Amino acid sequence: MVSLSNFLFKLEYNFKVSHANNHIVKLTVIKESRPGENRVALTPQVCSQLIKYGHQVFIESGAGYASNFSDELYQAAGCSMGSQTQLLQNAEVLLLVNPPDTSVVNLLSPKTVLISFLYANNNPDLIEMLVGKQISAFSMDAIPRISKAQNMDALSSQANLAGYKAVITGANYLGKIFPLLMTAAGTVTPAKVLIYGAGVAGLQAIATAKRLGAIVECTDVRPETKEQVESLGGKFIEVKGAEMAKVEGGYAKEVSTDYLQKQKEAVNKSLFQTDLVITTALVMGKKAPVLITAEQVQHMKLGSVIVDMAVEQGGNCELSELDKIVNANGVSIVGLSNLPAQLPQNASELYAKNIQNLLLYLSDVNRFHFDLNEEITAGTLITHEGKKLKV
Ligand code: NAI
Repeated sequence: MVSLSNFLFKLEYNFKVSHANNHIVKLTVIKESRPGENRVALTPQVCSQLIKYGHQVFIESGAGYASNFSDELYQAAGCSMGSQTQLLQNAEVLLLVNPPDTSVVNLLSPKTVLISFLYANNNPDLIEMLVGKQISAFSMDAIPRISKAQNMDALSSQANLAGYKAVITGANYLGKIFPLLMTAAGTVTPAKVLIYGAGVAGLQAIATAKRLGAIVECTDVRPETKEQVESLGGKFIEVKGAEMAKVEGGYAKEVSTDYLQKQKEAVNKSLFQTDLVITTALVMGKKAPVLITAEQVQHMKLGSVIVDMAVEQGGNCELSELDKIVNANGVSIVGLSNLPAQLPQNASELYAKNIQNLLLYLSDVNRFHFDLNEEITAGTLITHEGKKLKV
């Protein structure tokens, strides 16, 4: 049975659509349901730009609150507000940060377009459900690492912020400051920071730790990162006598156990003297490599801290536990997930821009193009017309 409020909403919705010139692509944003998630898929500023392009934007009341974007700001930008059920039942294009819950997908009509992080490899049941409902789903984690897609690359925009937050989080658990301090009472030596992985998050972590005055070292399996680390003022720890990782689509492939052993030997001296370790090492489609064993942790300094940014993919430290702070003989191992959600304002601003750029690339105000031979569409479109296009 259709409730009165839903009926009135539909009436208002259809009125707005029919009175708008070419306003066919209607964008819907609801509040994220993942526990601890504070981000929102569109910000008022991006909504206002999309509306200027001719789109219509429908936002669930309160969706932006945790990112500091009030309903009033969305309304001033020209968005229409509604309750979640009303919006989902009428959605044409649903924009989210996280993969949708089953209850959300259940409410969508066939042929709805979904754009969100989907992590298709980790969510096979969700993908099957999207196929069954004939949803056309684009995954933000599958944006190709090519220069024309850089402004859509949400993995990078979020990893950048996470790298910053990892250093700030580590600093919070550390019983000492980062910079050299010369005072009448004596000199405080700078903190030592060791970073595993010089990808987007790792490079931002180097830059942040350097700005705070720490001495920074870094190791990575990709040889080209040496120059990037040094350009930020970090020291690159080379793993001698081992074959470096192969790179595919910008991502490092898995390295041999021989490499990992040689890496341990090369890094141990720094690891056992360091104050803060940030681990960011990921291998696309695989569990994160274990780079710090329980045995190595035993040799680390009392009071030192590890922030394991790979904890959601299994962790780079053998002792990390998801969403826990583990104390191992006086070493704190911080395994907090979803660091970008702790900077929700900036994270939402950048994510919304990524979405805007993708939307404007894939569609005009009338329709999505679904050009399966086009590189970004081919990389990102996971389900379409009742078929799974990618594994
Ligand atoms: P990621 O999050 O997949 O991995 C983080 C880092 O861990 C990488 O640098 C990787 O080499 C390193 N790593 C993997 N296994 C390791 C091990 N055993 N020990 C130490 N380090 C290990 O990487 P992210 O941040 O997504 O970036 C990957 C690459 O893609 C970078 O070169 C980045 O510059 C490039 N990129 C290119 C873009 C474009 O052209 N549009 C956009 C964004 C990134």
